[in-house]
Parts: sequence; C-alpha cells; structure tokens
Amino acid sequence: MNGSTPVLEGRGLVRTYGTVQALQGADFAVEAGTVTALIGDNGAGKSTLVKVLSGVEQPDDGMILLDGQPVVFRTPMDAHRLGIETVFQDLALAPHLDAAANAFLGRELRRFGVFNARRAMRRSTIKSFADLGVTTVQDVSAPVMSLSGGQRQAVAIARSAMWAKRVIFLDEPTAALGVVQTRRVLDLIRQIRDRGLGVVLITHTLPDVLDVADRVEVLRFGRRTATFDRDDATVELLVSAITGVYSNVAVEAPTDVTEIDIAGGG
Ligand SMILES: Nc1ncnc2c1ncn2[C@@H]1O[C@H](COP(=O)(O)OP(=O)(O)OP(=O)(O)O)[C@@H](O)[C@H]1O
Ligand SMILES: [Mg+2]
Repeated sequence: MNGSTPVLEGRGLVRTYGTVQALQGADFAVEAGTVTALIGDNGAGKSTLVKVLSGVEQPDDGMILLDGQPVVFRTPMDAHRLGIETVFQDLALAPHLDAAANAFLGRELRRFGVFNARRAMRRSTIKSFADLGVTTVQDVSAPVMSLSGGQRQAVAIARSAMWAKRVIFLDEPTAALGVVQTRRVLDLIRQIRDRGLGVVLITHTLPDVLDVADRVEVLRFGRRTATFDRDDATVELLVSAITGVYSNVAVEAPTDVTEIDIAGGG
C-alpha cells in the first residue's frame, strides 16, 4: 500500500453457506491504477469475495467502502452503476449472441429502428476492442459459442473494460488458456490498469502474479492472511502464504476451522 485511499475495500466480510463459512471476516483492498492479485487455495473464498464485492452476493457481516465511503450493493447493477465490473469464473456470456450483443447485454443502445442501434453497438464494440488491443476476435458478429476459449475470454474482459469506471474483477481469466493467449490477457490487464482502473486478478499461476501484479492479497479459510507489494514477493513466499506456513497479517484464531469445506469448487 502506498497510503492512498483504496478505491474499493472490504472489511471483516462474512459470508456463510449453510455450515460452510466461505468468508470469515475477510479484509481486502484495491487501489486505482494498480493490479492486485487475489490468491489462495481452492475453496479459500476468492470467488465468494468477488461476488460480495460486486453485488452478486450479500455479506452476512462486514462492510464495503468505495473511495473510503461505506456502500451497500444490493444487486450487481448497484455495483455496475458505481463503475465496478466483473468477469466471473464461468464467464456468463450469452453463447448464441455475437460479441457486440454480449458487450451491450442488458445495456442495449436505444435508437429509432433496431438496425441503427445494432450497427451503433457493433461500431462501438469494434472500437473498444481495438482500443484495448483485442485483435483476436476478428468478427464481432459471430456468435460467441463459435469462438475459441481464449477469444471468449477476450470478449468477456473487453466487455467489462467497456463499462468499468473504477474496478474490474477477473476471476481466473487465464485458467483455460495457452501460453500465447495468457500473455495477451496479461497485456490487456496492464492496459486496463494503465487507464487508471483498479484491476483484481484471481489466478493460481504464481509466475503470472509476479509478472503482472503490483500487490498481492492472500486469502486462506475465508480470511486475508498475507499481503505483499510485488517487489517483496517470491513464488516461494506466496506458496508459504497460500499453504498457511507464512502470514504477515494479524489474524484471530478462526472459529470452526475443522468445519470448513476446503474441497471447494473450481
Ligand atoms: N453457492 C454456494 N453454496 C454453497 N457453498 C458455496 C457456494 N459458493 C461457494 N461455496 C463454498 O464456499 C467456499 C469458498 O468457495 P469459493 O468459490 O469462494 O472458493 P475459491 O477460493 O474461489 O476456490 P477456487 O480456487 O476453487 O475457485 C467453498 O467451500 C465452497 O464450496
Ligand atoms: Mg473461485
């Protein structure tokens, strides 16, 4: 942290599913113009944290602050309106629609005449993709189900980048990608960061974390257990933090650790 107010912050977030305590008082912060990697083992609560911070899930306890002010996100639209966009682990694109229609899904332009609006959305999508250096999707009129995994990922990220004003969450955007496509996504992440947004990247690929992140936050059993500036982190240190060998954050003894389902879901 360099001392500036985080653009988005979670404090003491709790989210329980039945007997599973997915978040047990998690703290988290992201600053504008930085990439923050959010790492942790399967089931650590990363996706749940993202959902809570983007209005998809409501926390049972804790608070969310935007530019230092407490906010409540009742729905994802609340978060969207405040400039927060999310690429979820399962992408959530509409497979039968093309890239342009996906980019404007739920926020369609209204024009006199359907075709004008469609053309305008297509033009705008092509421009946004070009601005972001997304060159892999040549035909924004093709249904996204006909695209490769990497192209689909690019569509999902570019869509979020089109609308985000403050923060973008990317939940394992490179998990299914090859080396070249992964590098493209990391480049895209840097571009979005350089526009001044806070980017939150979830990944299990630690060299990618060291490659692109400015800061790293480590989640374990639904709590922040460590936080690093990029320059202080090594793969070994990150592994130690993920596995609970190392911590640099004061943590109260978690309750009911034995009941946590760490089998998780990927
Ligand atoms: N909708 C749900 N219903 C019940 N349990 C859930 C639900 N969502 C998450 N959980 C549980 O909460 C815990 C945290 O899950 P979460 O998906 O946040 O982990 P994660 O850190 O994203 O893991 P991964 O790296 O595998 O994606 C897991 O034990 C999971 O089973
Ligand atoms: Mg997850």
